[in-house]
Amino acid sequence: MPENILIKEAAVLIKKSDYNIAFTGAGISVESGIPPFRGEHGLWNKYDPHVLDLDYFFSDPVGCWISIREIFYDFFSESKPNKAHLALAEMERRGMLKSIVTQNIDNLHFEAGNKTVYEFHGNSKKLKCPICGKIIPVQEVDLKELPPRCPDDNNVLKPDFIFFGEGIPPDAYEMSFIAAKKCKVCIIIGSTGEVVPASYVPNTAKEFGATIIEVNPEESLFTKRITDIHLKGKAGKVMSELLRYLD
Ligand code: APR
Repeated sequence: MPENILIKEAAVLIKKSDYNIAFTGAGISVESGIPPFRGEHGLWNKYDPHVLDLDYFFSDPVGCWISIREIFYDFFSESKPNKAHLALAEMERRGMLKSIVTQNIDNLHFEAGNKTVYEFHGNSKKLKCPICGKIIPVQEVDLKELPPRCPDDNNVLKPDFIFFGEGIPPDAYEMSFIAAKKCKVCIIIGSTGEVVPASYVPNTAKEFGATIIEVNPEESLFTKRITDIHLKGKAGKVMSELLRYLD
């Protein structure tokens, strides 16, 4: 079916529903210059995911911070929201989007203007002391000196996003599944669906009767299992067109 008919169908469902959520993955930020983790230009092709193992962080904080700084801070700290992020912010402003559950740690949904965002994997723009819990905005820390240390107790600061082996932030976890159970439409944007428990969020929405709209140039693990409308394309273009049909 031609894409614009599918987009129109998706817009009708979104307008009819009184509870829409979005579930976003790394793919929504690709057009902001942040590479995805998997796929042809994925970060995990270049870096060993081991760099985000919690025990590696504590066993070799300098080595771990050198990789973290290169992956998450040297290149991407200047990334800006793209049209897809801005479309979701406009949908929230129009009362057409209750919340976003994001796997992304790049803060771009907040920077685009969304207020209700559940960060399932945390946020790279904050550093946290694992001992005293102090939170410091990363722009207040000099990352030339590694590892960064807590000004209060001198322990090594950790980015406030979750490492492999670390639990999901409890509030984000709880709010995400409440939203998944309540929503009538869940718009999945830019996710392979490979990461658990994050990918249980759209699956739960489906189980509780939601219609699943997926925006992705490729198929994902969601597509054949739960997706009702697959808007095949890049997030920026598709979400801009969808917004026009929501007028
Ligand atoms: N628009 C929409 N989707 C896109 C675009 C684009 N321009 N470019 C790529 N994609 C899609 C890819 O087809 C793929 O399905 O985005 C997805 C990116 O896959 P991943 O990088 O695996 O992203 P995600 O599924 O969100 O998993 C990311 O994995 O390593 C963990 O915790 C880490 O949160 C991170 C999670």
